[in-house]
Amino acid sequence: MQQVPLERVISTSLRPRPSWPTPEPRWPFPELPAQLSFLAEVDRQIHAPQLAELSAEIVQSGRWRDYVTVCEEYRDYRLVYENDFIDVWVLSWLPGQETGFHDHEISEVGICVAQGAIREHHMHLHASDTQHVMGEGQTQQGPFGYIHRVEYEEGAPAVSVHAYSPPLAWVGQYREQSGQLLRLRQPGRTRLAPA
Ligand SMILES: [Fe+2]
Repeated sequence: MQQVPLERVISTSLRPRPSWPTPEPRWPFPELPAQLSFLAEVDRQIHAPQLAELSAEIVQSGRWRDYVTVCEEYRDYRLVYENDFIDVWVLSWLPGQETGFHDHEISEVGICVAQGAIREHHMHLHASDTQHVMGEGQTQQGPFGYIHRVEYEEGAPAVSVHAYSPPLAWVGQYREQSGQLLRLRQPGRTRLAPA
């Protein structure tokens, strides 16, 4: 049997990618501002602690404001930067908007809250979910295999910066069917939402 080369199995190639749900965000995105040029220097896969630092740096720069959206119809987000090793997003949250439980497949994630607050939930096998609120400047590290649910808590809108490595090509969205947990694999740019 012909063996599939490993790089094809774990490829994080950015193209082709499934199309966005409509309406599509602005594309191409604005040129990377000089204050965020450090993003272009990432030349290898990095892990959750560095991703959280990188998100915090974007928050401290103030340039996240360029990517904020206010959309009541659906949860909206904007791409700040992507290369072969990372992709970085600014997510805007309004009341009632949330992701549902999901994982990031092979990507690790670092989060930093830029404005307002978000609430993060974790799932436990034999206990109730736990949750905590993340306020401005707070970071969270999501290593390989991380599962969470994120929702709006406070702000107009709440804004958070999320950095992924390798780029978020796929996510696993969790659903319950007849009392059993299902994992649905979906393109990384899917607008995650509860069932
Ligand atoms: Fe996530």
